[in-house]
Amino acid sequence: MMEKSRAAELDALFAAAAEARRNAHAPYSHFAVGAAVSSASGRLYTGCNVENAAYPSGSCAEQGAIAAMVVAGERQIADIAILGDAPHPVMPCGACRQRILEFADTRTQIHAGNMAGLRLSLRMEELLPHVFGRDSLP
Ligand code: THU
Repeated sequence: MMEKSRAAELDALFAAAAEARRNAHAPYSHFAVGAAVSSASGRLYTGCNVENAAYPSGSCAEQGAIAAMVVAGERQIADIAILGDAPHPVMPCGACRQRILEFADTRTQIHAGNMAGLRLSLRMEELLPHVFGRDSLP
């Protein structure tokens, strides 16, 4: 079978994020977010934001997708897509950049998107330079 093109791969990743976003629980911000991770094995894992009446107890879409990957026994993010309804591609928050870093390397691509189809792909090292990561601990 022919290998999937990069463009088709990214379309599938964003489609998975869009599907996850439909289940977002965002009654407070009304800002639904979906995320999809493709792992080293090629499998896709998804998450959505899950807000809480006690606001700080809510969680981000990326958090859910990464947790699903880890539960499945995988430890390497190949690509991650984040999707929300905004005028610009929805970027991962600071805490999620750190969460992505744990299972990424400097060249891993993070793909931000919006519902109008705008996309922006950046590498881990661009989103989070001068990191405190797994190599920072003695
Ligand atoms: N949110 C995410 O799910 N991921 C991000 O990286 C940015 C923010 C969610 C958290 C909250 O439920 C809503 O978007 C508004 O901040």
